[in-house]
Amino acid sequence: MTILADDQTVVQRILDHIDNKTTDLSESSWREPVDSYRSPERFAAELEMVLRRHPIPFCPSAALPQAGSYVARDAAETPIIAVRGNDGEVRAFRNACRHRGTQLASGSGCEKAFVCPYHGWTYGLDGALRHVPHEHGFLGLDKSTRGLVPVACVERSGVVFVSQDATQVVDAYLGTLPPLIAPEWKLLVAAEREVPTNWKIFVEGFLEGYHIRSTHPQTFYPLQFDNLNVVETFGRNSRVAFPYRAINKLRAVPPAERTVEGKLTYVYHLFPNSMVATFPANIFLVVVEPLAVDRSLLITYVMARDGETRTSDAAATPGRGLNLVNDGGAEDRAVACAIQRGLASGANDFLEFGRFEGAIGHFHRNLHAFLDGMPPRDRR
Ligand code: FES
Ligand SMILES: [Fe+2]
Repeated sequence: MTILADDQTVVQRILDHIDNKTTDLSESSWREPVDSYRSPERFAAELEMVLRRHPIPFCPSAALPQAGSYVARDAAETPIIAVRGNDGEVRAFRNACRHRGTQLASGSGCEKAFVCPYHGWTYGLDGALRHVPHEHGFLGLDKSTRGLVPVACVERSGVVFVSQDATQVVDAYLGTLPPLIAPEWKLLVAAEREVPTNWKIFVEGFLEGYHIRSTHPQTFYPLQFDNLNVVETFGRNSRVAFPYRAINKLRAVPPAERTVEGKLTYVYHLFPNSMVATFPANIFLVVVEPLAVDRSLLITYVMARDGETRTSDAAATPGRGLNLVNDGGAEDRAVACAIQRGLASGANDFLEFGRFEGAIGHFHRNLHAFLDGMPPRDRR
């Protein structure tokens, strides 16, 4: 298990790369068969073996700020609801009434209890079935056995993780998570967008800086270096540092006093399908939810610090920074869609990820290990 470098070490590695005109290089490159992005069988295996088993980021803690706050959405085709209880704990359940299966909630909100919209069965925030209207109509009903069905859930580093496989001990995967989203970061806005791409293509786009100049000439490139990154892995996850040109100002700061705020973006890839990206005024959590082999739902949570959450309307949010990130994100989405179309061209048997793109190789290496049935604990 690799432990991530501290900020001062990352800064020095970046300054050295600037001086030497170098970037981090992985030991090897990676070739991923095009079939991995197009095969319905492979897609089904990813859902079954990885996305329903592995702990996956479901939402940021900031989306569940108080008792009764909930987020309901599908994860790997399964309706899930995560809710903060009166005891402050976050729990997750399969989002289906134990009477005749109606979904209890959708989207997000805050409730004292979940009342089924169909016949009014009522569940506490802890999932317990509290009330059944006209209960005498159900012979032998034991309410204590008809609570909402839980799924494994833990809250770590400002992120709520769920795993649909009850045999998995979620904690075991998450022991070495670095700090990700501190409590001072509050939810500014959450948005969903469907994109016509395989989910892995969208993940890959976050994990290398080799495309900064070509893809983002007017957005990120004026502020950032092209193909200059520090790439680290921790467990199945990775972290890629994307330095801003302003990092050169840190040369005048004693190494022990250097901080990275406003000097770089960290992108944390949380295996398998989520990224946390840090920006000067915002932190993004992006979950890439697979809908079909060639369609995905991007769920984006944007956090801002206390006092900077003036509006929940993204369009009205002031700040060049957020607009810039949104514009850059649109460029990444366009490329991802173009890759998906290119897969159908028949030109390639595989996609090649070079030594600048090592975090992507790490992602695929771990995905293959999981699909091949490697015992999860052995691959930490
Ligand atoms: S389906 Fe929920 S109360 Fe009937
Ligand atoms: Fe990009």
